[in-house]
Amino acid sequence: MANVVIVGMQWGDEGKGKVVDLICPAFDAVVRYQGGHNAGHTVKFADRHFALHLIPSGILRSATRCVLGNGMVVAPDAFFKELEGLEAAGIDATGRLFVSQRAHAVLPTAVLLDKAREAARGDAKIGTTARGIGPTYEGKISRYGLRICDLGSDRLEEKLRALLTRADAELRSLGQAGVERPARLADQCRAWHERLVPYLADTELLLNRWSKEGKDILLEGAQGTLLDIDHGTFPYVSSSSSTAGGAATGTGLPPTALTGAIGVLKAYATRVGEGPFVTEIEDEAGEFLRSRGNEFGTTTGRPRRCGWLDLVAARYAQRINGIDAIALTKLDVLDELEEIKVCVGYRLGGKVHRETSAIFEGDEPFEPVYTTMPGWKQSTVGARELGDLPVEARDYLEMIEDEVGARLGLISSGPRREETILCPGLKPLLGDRFSDVAAQPDP
Ligand code: GDP
Ligand code: IMO
Ligand code: MG
Repeated sequence: MANVVIVGMQWGDEGKGKVVDLICPAFDAVVRYQGGHNAGHTVKFADRHFALHLIPSGILRSATRCVLGNGMVVAPDAFFKELEGLEAAGIDATGRLFVSQRAHAVLPTAVLLDKAREAARGDAKIGTTARGIGPTYEGKISRYGLRICDLGSDRLEEKLRALLTRADAELRSLGQAGVERPARLADQCRAWHERLVPYLADTELLLNRWSKEGKDILLEGAQGTLLDIDHGTFPYVSSSSSTAGGAATGTGLPPTALTGAIGVLKAYATRVGEGPFVTEIEDEAGEFLRSRGNEFGTTTGRPRRCGWLDLVAARYAQRINGIDAIALTKLDVLDELEEIKVCVGYRLGGKVHRETSAIFEGDEPFEPVYTTMPGWKQSTVGARELGDLPVEARDYLEMIEDEVGARLGLISSGPRREETILCPGLKPLLGDRFSDVAAQPDP
């Protein structure tokens, strides 16, 4: 049995979608356990290009079951739009896509609140995706939120009224118009629920049954460790538990059923939105990474801030998630650089910290302590064997393994499925089914 969590080790957009799609043949099901359509997971193979937001990246493989777990927040209109896009592209989800009844529903009022709060924060804004994610999770924690099952409840109007009264008061206090008329929204909710019924399931029961039957489950994290509500750079975080611990609460699989964790780590660092970023580079090297790495948001199109790889943060992500193997992505983006910097410590008040969980907390910014490594100045695009890589690139990878304390499970040398080097560190996680990944035919 392999129930493996895939988690971003940075601020999201590490390439989780590519990695999930690639190793899918080793699993029977792929499950999202948190977040909503703030995520944007890209999958490319042959001449095909998909951007998944709510639906697990496993949906592109016809034999894979896909589950939206209870820890997610689901916007019904975004769900249907995504499903229609997949259907138009010839992807049939019938009978293999399941949505938790207990996931919380993202209602239009949450989007209004998200935008109004950001506007009211002014310079202190978070830089959210404006998808209503924060206000929806807040509704869950305050116990006023509506779950997907509530959309079809006999008490829908009553539940909506309680939620909307609060939203209306807050919107007005922020100088906005109030919320839509509850009756209209109630009709909309019922219509959404009716359309959702074929997908609704008691996903906790389903997943635990599959797990008992020996089926292998891949848990697809969205966002990343440093955007986690508990472990990220608060308050510049998303509102869910994107780290590996969230995979248990967000699905109902017990923590003891999880057998391993793969951390997706970009060969450099990016961040969208506001908040601390110790290794950010704002000169032409940052511009180079942005254009060469095509660092523009999959969900919002915003340019991503770019910087050097931060090993203090990567070690932190390894600890928090118990990363067994690293999926190192976008190595090819560094191909043309003369030299590559990596941050090995943070300096604060004359002291250098190599390990810190007080990352980013003080008012005084940490200063990065860099090691400089020589670049390889030749193309690694599409490399499929470790031996295809120049020695400087292999040194860079070895240094990452040593510094982070986890083995390499794979190296991504381009956005496409086939542009990948599988490494020995992946085998223990996938067991016998490693061969299903290694033997997959080129698309
Ligand atoms: P996710 O949110 O973690 O799934 O990542 P995104 O899909 O938002 O962003 C990753 C971007 O990098 C996408 O455009 C991918 O197609 C692309 N990508 C993934 N792996 C590689 C790689 O190894 N090299 C290059 N050049 N691009 C990659
Ligand atoms: P994937 O799954 C990168 C960021 C936003 C903002 C903060 C809070 O594609 O890696 P939110 O709308 O969630 O309240 O925004 O989190 N953010 C992401 N950044 N990748 C993501 O998802 C993100 N999801 C949210 O930019 O800084
Ligand atoms: Mg993304």
